[in-house]
Amino acid sequence: MTGPAAQRYSFGAIILHWLIALLIALNYAAAWVAEDMPKPQAAQVMGNHKAIGLIVLALTVARIGWRLAHTPPPLSESLKAWEVALAKVVHALFYLLMLAVPLTGWAMHSAHSGGKAVGIFGLFAVPGLPLAESKPLAETFEAMHGTLTTLMLVLAVLHVAGALKHQFLDRDRSLQRILPWG
Ligand code: HEM
Ligand code: HEM
Repeated sequence: MTGPAAQRYSFGAIILHWLIALLIALNYAAAWVAEDMPKPQAAQVMGNHKAIGLIVLALTVARIGWRLAHTPPPLSESLKAWEVALAKVVHALFYLLMLAVPLTGWAMHSAHSGGKAVGIFGLFAVPGLPLAESKPLAETFEAMHGTLTTLMLVLAVLHVAGALKHQFLDRDRSLQRILPWG
């Protein structure tokens, strides 16, 4: 492909990028607001948190498949070597975390409940991971989930700062490459 289309991510990559970003943001918000809620409401919000998290996991698997089948557009030639390297590291870590964050959440839930299924908005249920009920194990996964979500937040700040730098300081086309409109 040549011309402007070759400079942009494919439609599928763009949709998956923004859908997953939105769902991840919702999940941080849900976890944070649930902390200050009385237990029954918190359990309901966290039920949605678990469902959204498992949807993120499924979408991430689809996204990685899509990514392997579609070469991303070449990076702007004005990028310095360190910028290319940093972007690559952040993107690779993001893919790892988009898998590891929901997986540790799912494992935490499973160890806590002895492998109970997770309901997905009353539509269907995803089985729990086959783990025996164990408080210490659930606490280990909880600590991992907490640490990984903190790391993901740091990466998101770096990633958005990078996007804004390219948009407003460098004034290159990095952000246009992934916006749904051209
Ligand atoms: C996009 C995926 C996810 C994100 C971004 C996310 C994010 C978070 C955050 C920020 C917290 C608060 C951590 C803390 O206070 O230390 C949290 C807690 C929690 N998450 Fe997730 N999560 C995701 C997926 C999941 C999944 C798939 C499950 C279960 C199936 C899950 C179950 C939980 C539970 C039970 C807690 C509460 C832990 C506690 O009692 O302290 N999460 N999550
Ligand atoms: C939690 C939310 C987000 C996650 C997990 C995420 C993840 C990713 C990943 C993994 C890529 C690499 C795509 C690939 O080449 O395979 C990417 C690209 C990109 N993202 Fe995000 N993103 C998030 C939010 C955002 C936001 C809010 C912005 C804008 C303000 C943004 C701007 C971009 C841009 C401009 C690119 C293209 C980079 C390039 O030129 O190659 N992202 N994102």
